Amino acid sequence: MSEPPQSADLIVFGGTGDLSMRKLLPALYHCDRDGRLSPETRIIAMSRGGLDDADFRGKVDAQVRGAVPVDDLNVWERFLGRLHHVSVDIGGEDTVGWERLAAMLAGHEQRTRVFYLASPPMTFGPFCRQLERAGLVTPASRVVLEKPLGRDLASARRINDEVGAIFDERQIYRIDHYLGKETVQNLLVLRFANVFLEPVWNSLWIDHVQITAAETVGTPGRRGYYDHAGALRDMVQNHLLQLLCLVAMEPPSRNDREAIRDEKVKVLQALRPIVGGEVDRFTVRGQYTAGEAGGERVPGYLDEPDGTAPTEASHRVETFAAIRAEVKNWRWAGVPFYLRTGKRMPYRCSEIVVQFKDVPHSIFPGSAPNRLVLRLQPSEGIQLHIMAKEPGAGEVALKPVPLGLSFAETFTTRVPEAYERLLMDVLTGNPTLFMRRDEVEAAWRWIDPILGEWEAHGTPPEPYPAGSSGPAGAHELLGRSGRTWHEESPR
Ligand code: BG6
Repeated sequence: MSEPPQSADLIVFGGTGDLSMRKLLPALYHCDRDGRLSPETRIIAMSRGGLDDADFRGKVDAQVRGAVPVDDLNVWERFLGRLHHVSVDIGGEDTVGWERLAAMLAGHEQRTRVFYLASPPMTFGPFCRQLERAGLVTPASRVVLEKPLGRDLASARRINDEVGAIFDERQIYRIDHYLGKETVQNLLVLRFANVFLEPVWNSLWIDHVQITAAETVGTPGRRGYYDHAGALRDMVQNHLLQLLCLVAMEPPSRNDREAIRDEKVKVLQALRPIVGGEVDRFTVRGQYTAGEAGGERVPGYLDEPDGTAPTEASHRVETFAAIRAEVKNWRWAGVPFYLRTGKRMPYRCSEIVVQFKDVPHSIFPGSAPNRLVLRLQPSEGIQLHIMAKEPGAGEVALKPVPLGLSFAETFTTRVPEAYERLLMDVLTGNPTLFMRRDEVEAAWRWIDPILGEWEAHGTPPEPYPAGSSGPAGAHELLGRSGRTWHEESPR
């Protein structure tokens, strides 16, 4: 039997924002529905909003209820009953909100207290200082930092220093929601709970690896954020590099927080820096123009409805990035890791493709190398493409066929959303799936020279029509060595 859930206070800064309404509150509702929140657990949203508890509950009822399965109204009412709202004057002089929060938390010092900062990274330091001034940081407190953690190495260090001045590293949970995805965790199980892959998981047998996170959505209404982020900061520095770490890491000696993170950080430290003229050769950036996507005509990035006119930064920001990376160690020497992410791609698909080498000596015409495809979303599953003989009495004809595992067909249990898993890990104090300070900084250290070179160039990104598979440069990146991207729409 698992332990009964401990009582907790979860205080969400940016509690009425997009992330909270679309991801955090639905995830918390699921946790509640599954009996994983204690009866006393409270969720306190902090925002500028000027709402009271009743207004906030009404807002959640209107916006979240339709997005989650409410099969028992009592459970929904119980969930709403946990919700509170405190208006704060963010960055201002007015301390009324902080005092109200302090009054709500007074007498509950023994509870797990989670401060979830779903707000822009420059607010992390000031919020933490404010929490300390108000005497709210207890030994049982934890702080969750949403990505992006800074916009380069220097700002990430500054934020880490500021937060680290108030919370111990063991209390800091830097979230990367990709690590909470079931299929991403399954990658660890596939690699380290099965014996057959390990002997071939190296440069002797693997030709290259592709890691793709393609989205059909554009950035309507998000240009303010996106202009200053771009695909490299928004997706590559965190999600894609984390996936690369899980593919490339050495087997840890234990399934524990430090052992796994120690191995991941070694991969980041082994990434070969891409500097100077290499940036042009090994990286590609693109920006979508108008096109046909998902059966409809959509505008280009610069014309997305946003309420504001595009700025100079809008012209320079990338909505697509592709990079040829290399991990310089014994296992991976010479194996390219191709990373690719883009908005307004032809279909939504996050996957890792491990392409094996050709057989050393082929006795059949038409053989093709084996491919292991780990589909992270949608249609989660694993496929190993092997060569088989097509039935027939004539000449031997080969055909690549997939040996497949579909999670939906194999497991009937509901696949939890990444945030459910991660929020429960914060509440129970398990930081394994969160990024340690050295990991985040090692990732920025590798990204910084690429960003620097892109910014120094000042040239606009390569255009690609919405609904296409990215700019021509991305195909050349692989084409130069006779390789191609794995393009297969998930069914
Ligand atoms: C977020 C990015 O971290 O991940 C978004 O900020 C992106 O731009 C999102 O759309 C993708 O997440 P998922 O889980 O839909 O693949």
